[in-house]
Amino acid sequence: MAKKKSKYTRAGAFDRGATPYFHGRTAILKEFDNILFNVRASRKGTIHLIVGDSGAGKSALLDQCKKRAKLRGWKVVQITPATLWDPRKMMNALGYKNRPMPDTIALSVPDLLKLGASSSKPKKRLIPNILSKRKRKPLLLLMDEAQKLSSAIEYPVEQRDEVKEFLDVIHNAHLRKPIVLLAAGLRTSLAALQVLDISRFGEKNIVRLGQLSENPERAVIRDWIMVEAGVKEFPAEWIDAIVKETLGWPRHVHSYARNTSDYLIENGGVMTPEGLNEVMDVGRKGRIQYYTQRVEQMDGDDVLCLA
Ligand SMILES: Nc1ncnc2c1ncn2[C@@H]1O[C@H](COP(=O)(O)OP(=O)(O)OP(=O)(O)O)[C@@H](O)[C@H]1O
Ligand SMILES: [Mg+2]
Repeated sequence: MAKKKSKYTRAGAFDRGATPYFHGRTAILKEFDNILFNVRASRKGTIHLIVGDSGAGKSALLDQCKKRAKLRGWKVVQITPATLWDPRKMMNALGYKNRPMPDTIALSVPDLLKLGASSSKPKKRLIPNILSKRKRKPLLLLMDEAQKLSSAIEYPVEQRDEVKEFLDVIHNAHLRKPIVLLAAGLRTSLAALQVLDISRFGEKNIVRLGQLSENPERAVIRDWIMVEAGVKEFPAEWIDAIVKETLGWPRHVHSYARNTSDYLIENGGVMTPEGLNEVMDVGRKGRIQYYTQRVEQMDGDDVLCLA
């Protein structure tokens, strides 16, 4: 087996985000493909939100969506919730670089976008070429950590209105170029989006992420052991033991499986009962650390609910 550098003691930070061994979420990804297809065909725009607790796999799923969109010829731009509050950055993200800003032409950015998108509007002539070279390439905007939009409530109402308009412009197809804004965040993201009150944004635009079902869960563990660690023998007993503890929760599945893979790399791929005990032990410690962090991040009411 190829000698790899030991990662067995890697910190928890490695248990977040993109993964080389992604499985499951097939219905969601199929629906995402449909959205890309329909939005592109109709040159519309739409906003979708993935919500789930920490470790549910939101960032990993966004990464899959990014890859799929790129394969289908979409331009993909990653934005943060803060981008929405900065008109210049938002214009850049939408593909309109170096355009006049609203203060120079006395129009709000969303107005500008709407005008540029509508060739029938006479006012367009007043803004020479502002958006005439609009790039038609379909655009996927990805926004992780969407719960940070909850700071929306702290902004002055005018600024909030501008952001709301940006979102409306995207969601209600004013740009006449295919745009999907895919956001992901904790459950509080929903309340944040309600503050911004996007018209026609409803249940059908929301995906709630929960556990992985058993087959993908097992496939993730198998890949970490057989592909990453290069073990040739099918690790049935180890997979059985791990799924009893991880119960489909992506963060735990990933963490146990990665630790197991690291252990096996270090130990020449030999699967012994002692080895299994050791990786389970490391996995349990990681799980406790994860829940401790989550409780620390909660406020008093949430902690009482858990009790
Ligand atoms: N479907 C999956 N297949 C394999 N691994 C996954 C899957 N979903 C998530 N993971 C892995 O589980 C871990 C947790 O996932 P991720 O970081 O995406 O969660 P999250 O919901 O974004 O959490 P947070 O809210 O803390 O950012 C990551 O290491 C990720 O690679
Ligand atoms: Mg994340």
